[in-house]
Amino acid sequence: MNILQSPREIQQTADALRREGKRIGLVPTMGYLHEGHASLIRIARAKSDIVITTIFVNPMQFAPGEDFSRYPRDLERDKKIAKSAGTDILFTPTSDDIYPRDFNSQVYVDNLSTLLEGKFRPMHFRGVTTIVAKLFHLTKPSLAVFGQKDIQQAVIIRKMVKDLDFGIEIIIGPTVREPDGLAMSSRNVYLTESERKQSTVLHRSLRQAETDIHAGERNAGTITGKMIEMISAQPSARIDYVSVSDPVNLQDVATLRSSSEVIVSLAVRFGSTRLIDNIIVPVP
Ligand code: PAJ
Repeated sequence: MNILQSPREIQQTADALRREGKRIGLVPTMGYLHEGHASLIRIARAKSDIVITTIFVNPMQFAPGEDFSRYPRDLERDKKIAKSAGTDILFTPTSDDIYPRDFNSQVYVDNLSTLLEGKFRPMHFRGVTTIVAKLFHLTKPSLAVFGQKDIQQAVIIRKMVKDLDFGIEIIIGPTVREPDGLAMSSRNVYLTESERKQSTVLHRSLRQAETDIHAGERNAGTITGKMIEMISAQPSARIDYVSVSDPVNLQDVATLRSSSEVIVSLAVRFGSTRLIDNIIVPVP
């Protein structure tokens, strides 16, 4: 595995690989890699000639007061995981490499970025689309793999690619979970032992929603009401939102339509840790 830090170097490398006709698969991450990230790297491995994994904790997508400065980092461990999952080139730029002092440009996908997570993190997706657009230009991928864990992010990136004609295939990989159902996340290390135990309610509540939908429930308020009741029974849980939404435009759905699909998603804080999770449910 080759490790590159300089944007010019990765761009020249990617350009040369493209000229040789190689199909590049990209997996952007913020590091502190876990099995969820590894699963995306393996998907990219199976579908491309060259896999580029990037590790960059992107300051632009964190608001003041969020966890940028304490975001967990372990580059040596990340190198081993990235390599064994099949990365050919690991790109690990510094903040100064990516955002020189006179950096002034932003990429923003309107509407989608203001819903769900966007209501609680208004500048977040602007930071995500800006860095991902930049990583696309630096690494010239044919395809890029994102996780369903951050479904709104994946939907917004697909829209950016379509609107701005990036010509990159966006693949969404399934959410990898701990044995007790908690979605893997670099942020899970923040949880205290008690919060970690309580956090299993998130996946349980999503499965309850799925059961209710399969049983014929069509009223989104009834579905989310039951989830809110389950989550609120955990003493440390503070709900930001629980939502049933459309998988394409992310708008809230009030009444579920047969033969459609919905995203059931949530954001819940346990102490100082904010967790998100979702499932995509076909409506029978
Ligand atoms: P990060 O949180 O490190 O996640 C990198 C990728 O891994 C994202 O596509 C995310 O959806 C995926 N992922 C995280 N947990 C997962 C899990 N349990 N199962 C499957 N996939 C999982 O998302 C970001 O970084 C950043 O916003 C980024 C896209 C890199 C831009 O800075």
